Amino acid sequence: MHKVIFDTDPGVDDAMALLFLHRHPEIDLLGVTTVFGNVPLVLTTRNAQFLHREWNISAPISTGAASTIDPSRRDDRAASVVHGADGLGNIGVPHTVDWPLDSRPAYQFIIETVRANPGEVTLIAVGRMTNLALALRADPAIAGLVKEVIVMGGAFDMAGNVTPVAEANIHGDPEAADILFTAPWKVTIVGLNVTMKTIMSADYLAEMVKSGENSLRLLSDLSQYYIDFYKSRVGLAGMAVHDSTACVYLVRPDLFTVRGGPVRVVCGGIADGATIQAPDSGRRFIGTPWDGQPSQWVCTGVRPDDVLGVIRAA
Ligand code: BDR
Ligand code: CA
Repeated sequence: MHKVIFDTDPGVDDAMALLFLHRHPEIDLLGVTTVFGNVPLVLTTRNAQFLHREWNISAPISTGAASTIDPSRRDDRAASVVHGADGLGNIGVPHTVDWPLDSRPAYQFIIETVRANPGEVTLIAVGRMTNLALALRADPAIAGLVKEVIVMGGAFDMAGNVTPVAEANIHGDPEAADILFTAPWKVTIVGLNVTMKTIMSADYLAEMVKSGENSLRLLSDLSQYYIDFYKSRVGLAGMAVHDSTACVYLVRPDLFTVRGGPVRVVCGGIADGATIQAPDSGRRFIGTPWDGQPSQWVCTGVRPDDVLGVIRAA
């Protein structure tokens, strides 16, 4: 059984990933931590409550960061053009949802849950990485107690989706991502270079709904706005299932190829939020920001049809 904390900013593709984690028989969802991102924190948290209520998900929800780890940086670029003003495709989520929230802030929930399950917890982060960075800052020793970290974020050897060089989850809080990538734990990064290949068509989703349970109907409803965005603004024949792809990595790493090497994030300037992986050459580059950095794993290849099949089968 994979014990998972899901750090998320729902978000349409986040919603699909949450349903996947909830339904997958080999996954034990220990908790969901929310973060600002696709829409402001108050809405991502409300959306998590809504999805938990609709899908009867019992894992606790803990409220996370409302802004970047560096208070002098501002990230005001909510992605409502992608996910709708409510973050869930403008389906009419109620203003408030009566569903309990854990009393601890997300970073503390992460620390306490990891410490209660040493060596067993996988952190899957599919929004800004602020909560994980705050947890590391408060308790650096958790790096040695986490089983692994899987991140949806970054663009390697390709263009970004918010600037020519940066992907949204990293660009929204580059300092946090850099803290996460340079900590001494195992990180696997599922970036745009693989998630922009895992495209689910409207027909595929419709087939899933037809052959599946009621919960898929809501997923289909809230996905329509997102599908339209990818069709009209990106020219795709379906939607990129970024966050679910990262979750599939947990259970089927064999569907991906990975490359090792230290990863850093550019913090500031025209390349703000760019992710760079250095080759694992063994050379130390003493006196530079690369010296002594841990090697992390970047996904470079994917079998998209098989990934979609795993999502469908959950
Ligand atoms: C990422 O940004 C968000 O819009 C999505 O939910 C995904 O996590 C893709 O760049
Ligand atoms: Ca997300």
